[in-house]
Amino acid sequence: MNKKIFIANWKSHKTASQSVEFISLLSPFLEKIDLLQKEIIICPPFTALPACALYIAEHNLPIKLGAQNVSRFPEGAYTGEIAASQIKEFAQYVLIGHSERRKYQLEAQNDFADKIQQARSHGLGVIFCMQNEDDYLSDDIDYVTYEPPSAISTFGVGKAENAVHVAEILARLRKRTAAPLLYGGSVKEDNIQSYFSAENLSGFLIGSASLEADSFARLLSSC
Ligand code: PGA
Repeated sequence: MNKKIFIANWKSHKTASQSVEFISLLSPFLEKIDLLQKEIIICPPFTALPACALYIAEHNLPIKLGAQNVSRFPEGAYTGEIAASQIKEFAQYVLIGHSERRKYQLEAQNDFADKIQQARSHGLGVIFCMQNEDDYLSDDIDYVTYEPPSAISTFGVGKAENAVHVAEILARLRKRTAAPLLYGGSVKEDNIQSYFSAENLSGFLIGSASLEADSFARLLSSC
């Protein structure tokens, strides 16, 4: 079995203490799963990254952290921005290109190119989110997620993409990149199994179903 990657995207949910509580509730489940076959990346809000990083280090947990955004600028006079060098203190990865950044912050490919360059220059891994195949931007990324907006649980109908269609898209993406390919959009306990038949699928980007420790743990145990 190929190693499966599970990325939890908490969006603007949870305070720092709620985030640490989640990780403490998840940790007993981690003893029961085969961690040689799984990689777990949690993307809490920025305000929770330091507390989560400390808790994970103190308890030596097999969880990596990702930020949900990164400034397109280096450290400097950019009020409200958080630079890659500042994220690097607490996290190993950053999400770039998420549909909600495209929709609500009007971010576009040129912003993402700058962000990838900032993340890379500070040694952060990049999880690049694509809404469709036209969003493909760079070979210099660690994980590519295919996440059609219509499938995101909090966007419109929020209907998970058909697994056969996901497999077709991933097969085409595989011709363009060697990076592990993930699917995101309304991944839940009742549909996660359907995606495992996709030959090129390496894992999932999970929003709503990652907010409760027991629901996320059940997804981790599903393969
Ligand atoms: P969802 O969110 O799992 O709630 O659809 C996924 C995402 O937006 O990353």
